[in-house]
Amino acid sequence: RKRWSFTREGMYVVSVEEECGSSLIDELMELTSQSLCQLEIKEHFNIIKEIGRGKYGRVLLVTHRCKGTPMALKVLPKASTKLHGFLREYCISLHLSCHPCIVGLFGIAFQSNEHYGFAQELVTGRDLFAIIQPRVGIPECAVKRCAIQISCALEFIHQRGLVHRDIKPENILLLDTQCRCVKLADFGLTQRQGTFIRFISGTLPYMAPELCTMVLEEGQTEVKVPPLRVEPTLDTWAFGVLLFCILTGFFPWERCNDSDDFYEEFVDWRRSLKKTPVPSQWKRFTPVCMQMFRRMLALDPSERCSVGEVKGYVGKDWVRAKDANGWVGENGEVSTSTPSPCRSSCSDEH
Ligand SMILES: Nc1ncnc2c1ncn2[C@@H]1O[C@H](COP(=O)(O)OP(=O)(O)OP(=O)(O)O)[C@@H](O)[C@H]1O
Ligand SMILES: [Mg+2]
Repeated sequence: RKRWSFTREGMYVVSVEEECGSSLIDELMELTSQSLCQLEIKEHFNIIKEIGRGKYGRVLLVTHRCKGTPMALKVLPKASTKLHGFLREYCISLHLSCHPCIVGLFGIAFQSNEHYGFAQELVTGRDLFAIIQPRVGIPECAVKRCAIQISCALEFIHQRGLVHRDIKPENILLLDTQCRCVKLADFGLTQRQGTFIRFISGTLPYMAPELCTMVLEEGQTEVKVPPLRVEPTLDTWAFGVLLFCILTGFFPWERCNDSDDFYEEFVDWRRSLKKTPVPSQWKRFTPVCMQMFRRMLALDPSERCSVGEVKGYVGKDWVRAKDANGWVGENGEVSTSTPSPCRSSCSDEH
């Protein structure tokens, strides 16, 4: 896709991908590095309290000392953060922050003696993880509201040639507990589509099977498989796992490899062309919902649907009604299997 642009020198063609993806982020990073101000956090902000903590950074509720504006400051220790990584996270976040379902930014980035930091819109209603009731999940209507908004945010990201790569409930911020307004956050692992991953350390339940083959085990110096191309289908898979988690209150599996019985059961069911019964923890879902999961959780990434397809399913029922005999309309036992509840820590490739 090409777009014509006018300049003082005349008219020239820019490709949409080039304009929105790589060169713009690179330019933003260069400009930010040249103007990154040095400040001490306490001199410019009143720190009220810590409101979040992840693997890479802390998020502080602050007010701006002059203006009084409440903000969420994400601070990353210099000891464990490369300047390039910080600039990339900040610039990608800034580039995407205009979308209503993506966390907003104030355009303030800085370094102190010990930290890199940037100021985000304060999202007051906690994160999606906080409202998941273990082994119950959240109401289907709230899941669907969330699904539509995350689908829109991810479509926006993918259209710009980027892949979020860390879709999980902890990175979805809420303005209200009914999920009427949610915001996708944390672009610390976001990469351009087409980047190659050589290996990752550790797995998360949200990681697609092709990513789980890239794990560098202890003592290994390289993985046996070729580098993996980053594609939006990695987000589709994680989004599918996320929907399962928030509909049930537990993970479908711990990781996508053959040592995980729950994953193996799912793979057998997929490959059996409906001859094998639906694994017990999936029996609560209606056939149309299972069709959605089949599309999102296709084992072969080339067969996986795009994130936007989810919106086509929200008009249908996803969870069966339950009576004394189990899930209505499904013969067989009620799910008693209870894989782990849904909090996780992240891993990263180097
Ligand atoms: N703008 C915000 N407003 C309110 N709370 C926020 C905001 N941004 C982040 N948080 C909270 O802080 C937590 C950690 O933030 P974030 O995910 O950005 O950190 P991280 O170190 O990159 O995390 P991860 O371990 O997922 O990589 C989030 O899970 C969320 O609960
Ligand atoms: Mg996070």
